[in-house]
Amino acid sequence: MEQVTIERLGHQGDGIAPGPVFVPGTLPGEVVEGEIEKGVMAAPRILTPSDQRVKAPCRHAKSCGGCQLQHAHDDFVAEWKVGVVRHALSAHALEAPFRPIATSSPQSRRRAAFSARRTKKGALAGFHMKGSDVIVSVPDCLLVDPKLAAALPLVEALAVLGSSRKGELSVLVTKSLDGLDVAVSGGKPLDAQLQSDLADLARAHDVARVAWGDEVALTRRPPSQRMGRADVVPPPGAFLQATPEGEAALLAGVREAVKGARHVVDLFAGCGTFALPLAEDMRVHAVEGDRGMTAALDKGWRMADGLKHVTHEARDLFRNPLLPEDLERFDAAVIDPPRAGAEAQVAELARAGIPRIAFVSCNPVTFARDAAALDAAGYVMDWLQVVDQFRWSTHVELVAAFRLQGA
Ligand SMILES: C[S@@+](CC[C@H](N)C(=O)[O-])C[C@H]1O[C@@H](n2cnc3c(N)ncnc32)[C@H](O)[C@@H]1O
Repeated sequence: MEQVTIERLGHQGDGIAPGPVFVPGTLPGEVVEGEIEKGVMAAPRILTPSDQRVKAPCRHAKSCGGCQLQHAHDDFVAEWKVGVVRHALSAHALEAPFRPIATSSPQSRRRAAFSARRTKKGALAGFHMKGSDVIVSVPDCLLVDPKLAAALPLVEALAVLGSSRKGELSVLVTKSLDGLDVAVSGGKPLDAQLQSDLADLARAHDVARVAWGDEVALTRRPPSQRMGRADVVPPPGAFLQATPEGEAALLAGVREAVKGARHVVDLFAGCGTFALPLAEDMRVHAVEGDRGMTAALDKGWRMADGLKHVTHEARDLFRNPLLPEDLERFDAAVIDPPRAGAEAQVAELARAGIPRIAFVSCNPVTFARDAAALDAAGYVMDWLQVVDQFRWSTHVELVAAFRLQGA
């Protein structure tokens, strides 16, 4: 048995003591005791708890691996997430005025990736146990919208129908305006019998759409998402912001950062989360790598009333970023890249000297790298807001406003 004192929280949410020793489920300042194996104290006994420690609000927290930080006070988590961003910026000698964090409410996630497996008695659906492939049922999950938690029996029924005895299904369930949108992967091949069984199941559970592997198995109603004044039907599994509140906070930041622009380019536009609401006030060119998503965005725009012109382009912005000559017609840009960031595209934005940039990021490290490139090109970061759509997790998102000095 050894005793250690936790100094800080690592990026995966584990407490870290000198050594380093990684201690899951602990907080800075806590004194803990346990066996250390290969730098990990897997089963710590907490001798001195932190005053930031709280009783996990969710009854599943002990076993479920879905949340990492339920044992910490909300204020601690908020401060820690802001600290992660400050730290990433400081590695590039950058600072910014931080706005108060916007944290999404419990039970507000619009999408869940459940796992499901057949069992001797039927099937089991839920999330994986911490560090294991065992599935824990989570009917009272405090993270996801109650409509998603209520879909667990449907997910189990899908496993009974379509998984092999040993295999595990991954079932992405998304809440849409028209009911649940379900995308299943890891199942057996879709044959005529399965197709017919899925149709019965979808009717019984009033599901809007079921995708099986790469195929749309059935659409009872197009599962649309509201984006400003437009209703968009995303391709199965397409990226969506995680919570309506988080999306609203990001959109408010984006709107403010590009306010007054007449023609904006939306880079990594997805299905139009920002492009379509912005089109209420300005012309938009939406650029996105996935052709199915640009098609959905375009269709949503065409069906909506009263929006300004929205053009779209399917383009790989890592390999083939928009160049200064492509960018000169825009007076602002929105950029919301995947975790890898947007090194190549940001270099071109900086070369183009586009006057204002709204930057949305899900990775503080690549954001800080890209922000440093903008800083070197004469941009000022007017403000930054951490937007926590993934409460109780270690995931950090943000929106920031950049302005070219003297523009
Ligand atoms: C974080 S999501 C943002 C989507 C959109 N802005 C939204 O809020 O819904 C990043 C988007 O980048 C797209 N993407 C990923 N790699 C890309 C690439 N190399 N070129 C263009 N788009 C890419 C993904 O398909 C995804 O839609």
